[in-house]
Amino acid sequence: MQVVHTVAALRAALAGADRTACVPTMGNLHAGHVSLVELAKRHGAPVVASIFVNPLQFGAGEDFERYPRTLDADCARLAAAGCDLVFAPEVTEMYPVPQTYTIAVPAALANDLCGAFRPGHFDGVATVVLKLFNLIQPRIAVFGKKDFQQLHVIRELVRQFNLPVGILAGDTLRETDGLAMSSRNGYLSPAERIQATQLHRALADVQSAIERGERDFDTLAATAARHLKMAGWRVDYVAVRDAETLAAAQPGGTRLVVLGAATLGTTRLIDNVEISLPT
Ligand code: PAJ
Repeated sequence: MQVVHTVAALRAALAGADRTACVPTMGNLHAGHVSLVELAKRHGAPVVASIFVNPLQFGAGEDFERYPRTLDADCARLAAAGCDLVFAPEVTEMYPVPQTYTIAVPAALANDLCGAFRPGHFDGVATVVLKLFNLIQPRIAVFGKKDFQQLHVIRELVRQFNLPVGILAGDTLRETDGLAMSSRNGYLSPAERIQATQLHRALADVQSAIERGERDFDTLAATAARHLKMAGWRVDYVAVRDAETLAAAQPGGTRLVVLGAATLGTTRLIDNVEISLPT
């Protein structure tokens, strides 16, 4: 596996490649990221993972500075997973001049769910993903359902700009107690780590109620949020949405998703569960 840090070296390494599959990441890789590399390997070659903590998608007061940077361990994991090439640029390589040309995700999406609490976040994600696609020129790109709204933003980016990239979605990998794997789980204290499973359980309770036939989505979401608050979480949102469009769930909908974001101590976690109902 080759590791490159510059655009020139990336282009040289990829010369002639026409079935490239890419896996964009911010590093501090866990088994969830590795599962995306494995999915990429089944659909293209070479497999290129990018590792870049993208300042554009972090707001003031967020964790850009303290985000864990573990390049050597990440490269070892990627090599073991059969990744062919790692692109790990410095900020000055990705943004040699201020990135004044940016993608503006439409407000209805950019200011919804996580976007309501992270202004500019999805513009920053869409902008760096477009740059990564232009640099790597993949035929396939793999993203995780863990970041469900991000996946939706990227699918729309690809669709509306006719980008010649197929987007594949990887399932969320979880710890044995249900906590979704995340680079941010490392911020949790041992006590918070035990408590952190409550987020997934709260969403799974909403899922069960819907599968039992309940359709008052707002009340179900509000109840889940109340339970989390009573347990000591600061809840940004719990919401039931259409899994295809992210619009408000309709009682007759058959593909739904329950999404939640909440903070434990200083650690903001997100999670979601999909629901497929019989037609
Ligand atoms: P990062 O948080 O490093 O995630 C990289 C990819 O891994 C994303 O597609 C994310 O959805 C996926 N992922 C995270 N946790 C996962 C899990 N438990 N199971 C499966 N997949 C998981 O998301 C980003 O980076 C950035 O926003 C990025 C797209 C790289 C743009 O900067």
